[in-house]
Amino acid sequence: MTTTATRPIGARPRAAIEAKTLRTDRWWLAPLLTVIGLTAWVAYATFRVFMQKYYWVGAYHYLTPFYSPCVSKGCVPEASEFGQPLPDSPWIPYAALSLPFLLLFRLTCYYYRKAYYRSFWMSPPACAVPDGHGAYSGETRFPLVFQNAHRYAFYAAVLISLINTWDAVLAMHSPTGFGFGLGNVILWVNVIMLWAYTASCHSCRHIMGGRLKHFSKHPVRYKLWGFVSKLNTRHMGLAWTTLATLALTDFYIMAVSAGWINDLRFIG
Ligand code: FES
Repeated sequence: MTTTATRPIGARPRAAIEAKTLRTDRWWLAPLLTVIGLTAWVAYATFRVFMQKYYWVGAYHYLTPFYSPCVSKGCVPEASEFGQPLPDSPWIPYAALSLPFLLLFRLTCYYYRKAYYRSFWMSPPACAVPDGHGAYSGETRFPLVFQNAHRYAFYAAVLISLINTWDAVLAMHSPTGFGFGLGNVILWVNVIMLWAYTASCHSCRHIMGGRLKHFSKHPVRYKLWGFVSKLNTRHMGLAWTTLATLALTDFYIMAVSAGWINDLRFIG
């Protein structure tokens, strides 16, 4: 949104009206729901990440995505596919190598930026509602200028999605060999949704089709760009869906690991 401080030369100022906004609909509902949803998710994820138990089901090799890859000396050895280079400490999450990158990926995501700028920063909270702040410098200064690093967070997220896929493969396990249960369905749905969210990223779309002068000379990239563009229209929905699948996957594995429920087994 353009304010007085950044109004282009020649642009007309805001109409001289007393009211803060002329909108009479419930424009505040979407920002409010966003604050509630994101706050609840961050609270749950923080609680789980520092819990340091109920993250692994040994019989079926289920590992929650919140602890993957499990690289602390405190991890159950069978859950540590990629070694245990980090010391065991209650202040260091077991997946401390991947979590900062995942956080960075979501924080710098174009959709989440819109969501938290509007809902937490009120900058602005909705269309045709004034900014909650006097001045607006956009993402041109520290610290928001770092939002431009999103593409690098995307590369890290691809790596982590590969690790989550590997976890889902390893989880097709039972004490007698191959196995498949409800936990596998939940893990695979989560992984597929994570890939859909990652592939629908705006940076991914630019990597596929950006900086080209002629699509006709790059038919493969054109096809990929078209596919990613279709996914990209659903980016917001995928952003929320993956928050839900991540929390659900973690909760299910915690419930089985803690012995609150038994995994529903189809094979093994
Ligand atoms: Fe949302 Fe890249 S724009 S993940």
